[in-house]
Amino acid sequence: MGEMIRLDRFLAGCGTGSRKHAVTLIKAGRVSVDDTIISDPGHKVIEDACVKLDSKKLIYERYSYYMLNKPAGCVSAVKDRLSDTVLSFLTGVNTNGLFPVGRLDKDTEGLLIITNDGELCHDIISPKRHVEKVYYVICDKPLPGNAASIFKKGIDIGDDVPCLPAKLKKSGEAEGRPAYELTITEGRFHQVKRMFMSFDSSVVYLKRISVGGVKLDETLDPGMFRPLTHDEIVTLKERNDKEPSDEGSESQG
Ligand code: URA
Repeated sequence: MGEMIRLDRFLAGCGTGSRKHAVTLIKAGRVSVDDTIISDPGHKVIEDACVKLDSKKLIYERYSYYMLNKPAGCVSAVKDRLSDTVLSFLTGVNTNGLFPVGRLDKDTEGLLIITNDGELCHDIISPKRHVEKVYYVICDKPLPGNAASIFKKGIDIGDDVPCLPAKLKKSGEAEGRPAYELTITEGRFHQVKRMFMSFDSSVVYLKRISVGGVKLDETLDPGMFRPLTHDEIVTLKERNDKEPSDEGSESQG
């Protein structure tokens, strides 16, 4: 038997909108459980109960998955006293229990997955799983010709152990500055910035463009979000079904 949950939470977990909106729908007498109209938002139902909104059966999804194009200037946290958090961009979504998968620096933009699926989150940020994160990087000085092979071997950025192998690809220029795509499978503190700094090059713009094979939807302006599609969720989960290796330690994502 599934877990017992409140009816308003059940509705919010079916994509009908926020919990507040669910309360309105329930109080309006538009929701039935096993063919009986229920108007108490706190009524407990099992996850696989037959719940209908205006006679349309609802399917409860225990987990939610969103992609946010994180703008610069907000923090990858659930709560912060001083700054906007990434959750504050999910307007109309019940964000209780949601958290970002790993962290991007305050000035970093791009793909951030937000979910309440702790297992998937762990698998994506664990360096043992080798989940690829791709960054678009603009820096102030070109990297030397041997940078790609040094990154590939695993560069020492002053931590206990060198970085895991990373892939570097030139990506033209942006406003006269060199641009690159860098693929890493860890998420150490300021990792990309520190990798570039090892060659005396400062990162002036950083954007994550892909995580575990899921690409940032470029139709989302910074600050916009959407639910992940079914295929994107499958892609993330498939990537993470691989057996973990022994390399690497825990990291920030
Ligand atoms: N590497 C960084 O330096 N910053 C980020 O936000 C992500 C990766």
